[in-house]
This record gives sequence, structure tokens and C-alpha cells, in this order.
Amino acid sequence: MATVHKENILFVDDEESILDVASEYFSIKGYQVYTARNGAEALSVLEKEQIDCCFTDINMPVMDGLELAENINKRDNTIPVVIMTGYPSLENTIQTMKNGVVDFLIKPIHLEQLELCLKRVLNQQHLYVENLLLKKEIEGKARIESLNLELLQKIEDLQTLNHIMNDFSSIASSAEVFNRLVQMANEITRANDSVFYIINEAITVPFAVAAASADAGGAVLSPIDLSHISGRIPDSMIMDVASNLTPLLVSESNLLHGFSDTIESVMIAPLTIRKKIFGILSTINLKGQNRFTEKNLYYLSFMTHHAAYAIENLALYENIYQNLFSTIYAFVKAIGAKDSYTEQHSNRVTAVAKILAQKMKCSAEELDILNTAGLLHDIGKIGIRDEILLKPGKLTDEEYDIIKTHSIIGANIVGQLGLWEREQQIIRCHHERYDGTGYPDGLKGTAIPFLARILSVADVYDALASDRTYRKKMEEAQILEIIQRGKGSFFDPDVVDTFMNVYPTGEIHKAVQCHASSNPYSA
Ligand SMILES: [Fe+2]
Repeated sequence: MATVHKENILFVDDEESILDVASEYFSIKGYQVYTARNGAEALSVLEKEQIDCCFTDINMPVMDGLELAENINKRDNTIPVVIMTGYPSLENTIQTMKNGVVDFLIKPIHLEQLELCLKRVLNQQHLYVENLLLKKEIEGKARIESLNLELLQKIEDLQTLNHIMNDFSSIASSAEVFNRLVQMANEITRANDSVFYIINEAITVPFAVAAASADAGGAVLSPIDLSHISGRIPDSMIMDVASNLTPLLVSESNLLHGFSDTIESVMIAPLTIRKKIFGILSTINLKGQNRFTEKNLYYLSFMTHHAAYAIENLALYENIYQNLFSTIYAFVKAIGAKDSYTEQHSNRVTAVAKILAQKMKCSAEELDILNTAGLLHDIGKIGIRDEILLKPGKLTDEEYDIIKTHSIIGANIVGQLGLWEREQQIIRCHHERYDGTGYPDGLKGTAIPFLARILSVADVYDALASDRTYRKKMEEAQILEIIQRGKGSFFDPDVVDTFMNVYPTGEIHKAVQCHASSNPYSA
């Protein structure tokens, strides 16, 4: 009994006798046999039947064997095609190989030879199909794995972005934003150090106000430690990012020219409010640590955007006055980091000015204004270069002119917030003199805001009563004499009279002691 094969074989030849013989022989062997007299007929069989192997002659009318092989290869390259020819030529052989022909038989062909060839070809075809399926399965698995990884990465990204958004949305005061920003930058980009600098229209030299370092376990650094790491990135690079408002990633060693040799990679992202630069967030990694990637830079920019929203929202919707004050007070603290005298001096001047204002029957609102203006009156010193601000000896005329700009810079910083017009005026005018010889506008007498006239006396008193690097504090009698002499020229006569009346009570002395180094707003 014949073995039952499932395979369907197609024989294509224009010689009927060959078709008959092959058909009979393979039918007996249990194959399903189909025949065609040329390529075109064969194709119509292929349309209807699932053929497992095709034997074809080359020279046939209508469509020859080579064209047929080419067509089969295009339709389904898993169907093996065997060429049977009486006159093989090199050209034909090459062409058939190109068309995916798997074997070649030379006529006359013995049926046993044909059967052996069929078995071999079918075997190869099974292996080929199996291999294809396996390959597809492996590819499928790899694709699923990579999709899975992609998905996990996306989830992680989303979680990071969410974390950034949530973290900023939960900040209660704008003073916290800078600290949170540097801590988060360190944590998310795995930076060694992160620093936030203030830089804007008023403060034109980058001024570091917050920093976090992996060396300190990611904690926010004290002002002193902050000053140690804030100079690692050249000011010029920070200023470039501040002016073109485009985040910057530097990893190539040739681009790190001018940096300390210990630095591997740097990122700098601008923080803008209403499209204007407000500050710069920077991170660095040291040699031997990771280089930052584009994704790190994306996260850094995302942070500065959300910090900007947070600052704006806090400023606009929540406790406007206090929050703006604390943001600005962070600047005073920042001045304190490089010039502790200015911070303490501001506290004492405010305390003295408030005593004088009370004696002169100022309203509660005016006392409030004086409080803010007093604490911030020298805030413009942020914008003065260290070598001038902290110069121990006498200043040159040019240097003194630069120092004098601090009252305008300070007024601009406060003015930028769009609030506190009166405070702004006081800050601008705290170095005006009653006789019109002061700066910056040379205002005279009552043209100088009243509260600025009070602040001016308190300012000069504290300056004379403090130890400075270039001179010791003056004796009380000498201070009182200077203030008395300044009545009507330097100072408003009424304010001087008030000062002279209240001084003997010891109230001023006590207030100065009390406020030697505290923040009146912290209580
Ligand atoms: Fe001043």
C-alpha cells in the first residue's frame, strides 16, 4: 500500500509524456500531484492550491520556467522550485539561483532520482520554514522585551516628571524653591554638585544662593560651603546661557577647556519668569562619575520650568507679600553669605529706623514699609563685584562710583516684582542728602521720601557705630557730634532732633544689641 503523503507536488513541462510518467509515479507514492504545461498554467494552479514543491522545465511556450521560478519566488519564497532541463547553460544556472531555485536536475531524469531530490528538497523546505518561524518567534520575543523596557522607561520618566511637579506644587514659600531645586537636581540627575544662581536685569553677575552636594549626602550647603563650590563653572558660561536662554550640556573634554581638571560633565539650565531670565541652575559631575545625558538635561529644564511656575504662583496667589518678602530676604541672606556685615547692618538699621519712626508718629503701615525697605536697603550690593564690595582698603573713585550704584540696583530688584513702590523709592533714596548733594538723584529736602530721611540717619548711625575692616567703630560722643553736625545738610533736622531726644534713653543702643544678627521677620 502506498504511503499517504500530504505534500502537493506541481510538475510543469510542455512534454505531456513527462507529466504523465511523473504524475503516475508520485501519485502511487501517495503525493498529491498537479501538472501544468507552461508557467502561466502553473501559476493558475498555484493560485488555487497550496503547493509544497514545484518541478519545472525551462523552455516552454507562454511562460518559461525561469519566469515561473521568479513569480513563485515573489509570491511565496518558501515554495522550493527545482529546474529540469536538457540543456543547462551557465547563464541559466545563475539566473535560476537568483530566482530562488533550490535544485537543478538534468534530463533525462530517472524517477528515483526525482524522488530523492523531492525528499531532500521537502526536508530542506521544512527546515527552512521551521527556521523562519523560529526566527520570527525570537524576533517577536526580542521586540516584546524591548517594548517592555521602553514601557518601563516611560513609566520611570513619568514618575520622575510627576515627582518634580508634585515637589514644587507642595512648596509653601518661594524661599524654599531654590533649595528644593538644587536638591532635586542632585537627586534626579545624580549630579555631584548643583548650584542655583540668581542672575537677572538687576543682578548682572551670577550670584549663588543655593547649592547641594553629594559629598554632603545631597544636603543643602551652608553659605560658606556654597561659596566653595559655586565658582566651579566659569561665569562667562553661565552668562551665555542666561542671555540665549538655551539649556547647555557639556561633556566633551575639549569643550570643558577653562574648567577645573576634575570636572567630567556640566549642565546649565535657565530659569525664566515671563520669558525673562531670573536664575540659572547648574550641575557638575567629577571625573570618574557619569557623564550627563540629553535626558538629564531635559529633566533639569523641566525642573527650572516648574520652579518658575512655583515662584510665580506663590507670588501671585499665595500670601503675596510674605512670600515675595521671603524670596527677597533670601537675597539678603545671600548678601550675608559673602558680606555678613551688610546683612547684620540691615537688621540694625531697620531696628533703629523703626524706633525713630514710632517717635515721629508714623502709622503701622509706614512702620511696615520701613521694615521691608530697611531690611532690603542694601540688597543692591548683590550686584557689586566681590573685589570691590569686600575690598579691605580705601576705594578708588571709580570703585566708589560702582558701590554707589547699589541703591539703584536694589530699587530695580524690588521693582521687578511689581509691588512695593514706596519701599522701592526708599531703597533708591537712602543715600540722598537733605541739601541735595546725595545720590543717585540729588533730591533735596522734602523731595526725598520721609521714610528714606529716617532710614538715612539710622544707616549712618549704624555705619559709624560698627567695626569695619578698614576702621574701628567710633566713640558715641563722636557719632552724636557727626549726626548733629549733619542736621539740615546731610539729614532732615526733625529726624536728627528725634534721634538726639531718644538716644539718651538707651532705646537705640538696646535695639542695636538685640538685632545684632537676627532676622526681624523670623520671629
Ligand atoms: Fe546703602
